[in-house]
This record gives sequence, structure tokens and C-alpha cells, in this order.
Amino acid sequence: MALNTTNPTGTEAWKNLQKHFDAVHGTTIQDLFKQDNSRAEKFNIQWNDFLVDYSKNNISQETVSLLLELANSIGLKNAIADYFGGELINQTENRAVLHTALRAPESAVINVDGENVIPEVYEVKNKIKNFTEEVISGQRKGYTGKAFTDIVNIGIGGSDLGPVMAVEALQFYKNHLNTHFVSNVDGDHVNEIIKKLNPETTLFLIVSKTFTTQETLSNSETIREWFLKSASQEDVAKHFVAVSTNIQKVTEFGINPDNIFPMWDWVGGRFSLWSAVGLSIALAIGFDNYNQLLTGANEMDEHFKSAEFDKNIPVILALLSIWYNNFYGAESEALIPYTQYLSKLAPYLQQATMESNGKSVGRDGKPVNYQTGTIIWGEPGTNSQHAFFQLIHQGTKIIPTDFIGFVKPLYGNKDHHNKLMSNFFAQTEALMNGKTAEQVQAEFDKQGLAADKASYLLPFKVFTGNKPTNTILVQKLTPKSLGSLIALYEHKIFVQGVIWNIFSFDQWGVELGKQLANSILDEINSNTVKNHDSSTSFLLNHFLKNK
Ligand code: F6P
Repeated sequence: MALNTTNPTGTEAWKNLQKHFDAVHGTTIQDLFKQDNSRAEKFNIQWNDFLVDYSKNNISQETVSLLLELANSIGLKNAIADYFGGELINQTENRAVLHTALRAPESAVINVDGENVIPEVYEVKNKIKNFTEEVISGQRKGYTGKAFTDIVNIGIGGSDLGPVMAVEALQFYKNHLNTHFVSNVDGDHVNEIIKKLNPETTLFLIVSKTFTTQETLSNSETIREWFLKSASQEDVAKHFVAVSTNIQKVTEFGINPDNIFPMWDWVGGRFSLWSAVGLSIALAIGFDNYNQLLTGANEMDEHFKSAEFDKNIPVILALLSIWYNNFYGAESEALIPYTQYLSKLAPYLQQATMESNGKSVGRDGKPVNYQTGTIIWGEPGTNSQHAFFQLIHQGTKIIPTDFIGFVKPLYGNKDHHNKLMSNFFAQTEALMNGKTAEQVQAEFDKQGLAADKASYLLPFKVFTGNKPTNTILVQKLTPKSLGSLIALYEHKIFVQGVIWNIFSFDQWGVELGKQLANSILDEINSNTVKNHDSSTSFLLNHFLKNK
């Protein structure tokens, strides 16, 4: 069934939320805690190794009930069934959206166009397993008979961000293989990577769902040329493998058909790390760990499908985000993992979130009359505390923030971990409570600060607090918990798209720039600037004259 086309702002539930917002928006989170000291017990969800505390938000039980009413009135339950059931919910591309099938158990039956896709999924999984085992063990060798030492993933967007994020996140679990990622069409990027490599011991993974992406094809050609300086044409088969839906184009590139890992049009690029797009992850951490990543995601899928909405982590986080985005007018959300391992989580979720929900036309084909996709940004704590936290604490904008932390460190360094986590807890407390003028004055009194200095400084030192945060506290960063965490955010994105009445799984907005770049490239190559606006012509002429 197609997803419905309900404009959320026309629902009773939305109108009730608006009335509720008008009545309560002056109330602070501090007030709410004063009124009810048991908020943390009420507004938390514990699931597997996850504890999600969402009590430090501008919400009451009534707010949550009204948000849940909104989800129900939009038909979220049915939408979830359509999503997992392989319905063609990516309507503008006439495709199912089934990254969840990639992590489903072998016994599952998931039909696309009347055919169960699970056997194919497992066929490719087995291929990944055998391939990774051969490379890691050294059984599969390069053209001079040496085992592989380095893996290069050549891809961009969803064919890069997921793998690079997961490999970085799971480096504690990594084996001896060195992994590199080439994405940008900037030739300096590929050259910086090449200079570290030995062609005899390097395996290249060309990852492109469409196999038409300019960046990936250019980088692949440059790398093949470099490779052929020391190896012969038939050696290409030993060193290049591809992940793609476009088997014809891959074969034309010269890749041995045995070295092609297929994927399917029902896997969106930004949700594809669970497919063979994650080959670099499987190579870096071994197949068993990679499988754990998938298991963790599958467990979150089950939670999302079956938990009541008021105890459903992705649903609750999505609704809170809608509350701030559409009623408080928040423009962005920050994501602060308290582990250096998750330094690439924000860029990864930027694509997942913003390419999915950065839409302004409703599923009814009409422009929306409300805000959609949130802007996502973030960096690990504690580094980010010393960078942009000033603005979150004392700036003029409301920035709901997710804090993601882990109870146990991986190397067991208690001293560091206690310091890290004390910052983690301190920040959400400080963001909520702030510091009153009385508290600041009491500190001045204690320091014996002169009255004139104290009265001058006081306003700058006050923190209003009342800044909303979610705390996601996970037992330990493992392949499995990472899988669950990523799936959590994937489903949050889905819920928001359903409620905002937009199509989350297409990305027409990236096409125009690509088209224009192609015609400008012709102009640059032929040194002739054609018809543009005066600014673009001026810039192009300057470039051509000075290059
Ligand atoms: O940027 C647009 C996009 O289509 C993304 O959605 C996708 O992840 C990326 O380009 C790469 O595409 P491909 O895997 O086909 O090379």
C-alpha cells in the first residue's frame, strides 16, 4: 500500500499540540523537574544494553500523549508494516525500501514483487564471508603472490560514509588490514592515498550502487592507471572488486564477474552499509564482527516493529524532534558521542537524515506549509565542549542535543573514562539547570569580588539552562551495539518522514548540481564559457584565465 498523504498540520492531533504548545511553552525544564521529581523514571526507555533518558526535555505526560496521538493519526503503525513488508514506499522511484531485509534472519520471508529476497541476501552474505576470510587469512593473494595488507574503498555518499564511519567506530576490533577511503573527486585526495600504497599488496573495492557516479569512476580510473604502471591488465582481476547494482557497467570497467558483489535497487545508498557496500567493514573487523553489526541492527528493527510507541526508542526520539522542529522552531539538532570512535557518526547521519528528509514537497505533490528535515551536526565530546558548546549553553538558538555515551571503555582505562563520563553527565545537567543570578552572586561573594566588578560581570555568567537533551547510555561500544544505534537513527528518520508527509527515500535534490557540473566541465575542457548568469560567467572566466 502507498503511504497516505495526510498533511499533518490538518490533523486534530497537530491542532491539539499547537494549543498545548501555546499553553506550556513558557514552562522550563527546571520547572518540570520541580513539579515532578520522578520524571527520569517516567521518561526513560531501557532496552537491551541501551538506556535512553529523555526526561530533560520540555515535555509533560500530556505532551507525549499528544505526540503519540499525532503518530497514530498519521497511521504510523501501517506505515511501519509497509516499510518492513517491502511495499513500494519509495514511490517517486517506484521501489521498496528494504535495508532491514539485509539484517533479517535467514528464516525470514520478505517479498518484493512477490519474490522472497532473503535467499539472494544470504547468497551475497556468504560470498562476503568467503571473500573476507580468504583476504584476511592471506589465502587470496595479489599479482606477485603476496598477501593483501591494504584495502581501499572507492565510493562516495552512501558508498563511503557508512563504511568509513563503521570502520572508524570499530577500530578496536580491527585486524591487521589497513583500510583507506577515497571519495572526493579532488585529485589531491586520491593522490594522498595512493602515495601510501604498494600495488602488489593492495585490494581496491569500487563501491557504487549505480556505477555512474563521476567521483567514483574518476577515482577508479586514476587508481587503475596507477596500478597498471607496475602491473599488467590481467592483474586487475586480482586487485579490483566491485559492489554495484549495475553489473553491465562493472563488467565494462574490466572487473572479473566473480569479483562483483551485487546489491539491489531496494537498498538506498545512505542505508546500504548492511549490504556488500559494507565489504570494507567486514574486511576490517572480520565477518563474525560484521555479522554482529547486522544482528544489532536487526534487534533494533524488532524493537521498532513491536514495542508500543510510548516505549519505542526511535518513535519517541522522532516525536521529540518534531516537537522542537515544528513547535519550538528549532532549526538544528546536535549529536555528541562521548567516544572518539564515533567521530564520523555526525557526517554519516547528516547524509542519512538530510538527504532523506530535506524535502519541501508533500507526498500529495504539493509544497509543504511547515518545516521538515532537521539539520544535524556534531562532534565527539569532550572536544566539542571546547569548540561550539558555548553557543549551545548561552547562544540564542535552541539546539536539542543527543548525548551518546558508553558505560564501559574499550581499553579499560578507568581514570580517563571516569573523567570523560563526568563531563558527559555534567553537560546535560548544566544545559538543563543553567546557573541563576543568585548562584553567580554567591560565587562572587565567596571569592570576595568587589561589588562594582560583580555587578558588571554577573549577566555574562548567568546560564538560563532549559536546553533540551536526550541521553543515550549504552553498555559498551561493540559491533552489535553500533548496529542497534545506527538502526535507531534510521528508524527515527523514517518516522519523521512519515509524519511530515514527505518521501524520505529519494534524493532528487542532488541531481541539478550534477547536471550543471557536467555541462560546465565541457566548457572548462573546451575553454569556452557559455551562457550563465553574470556571477557564474565572471567566476568561470577568472578560473580559465588563471588556471
Ligand atoms: O549524492 C547522491 C547519491 O546518489 C547518494 O544518494 C549516494 O549515496 C551517492 O550519490 C553515491 O551513489 P553511488 O553509490 O551510485 O555511486
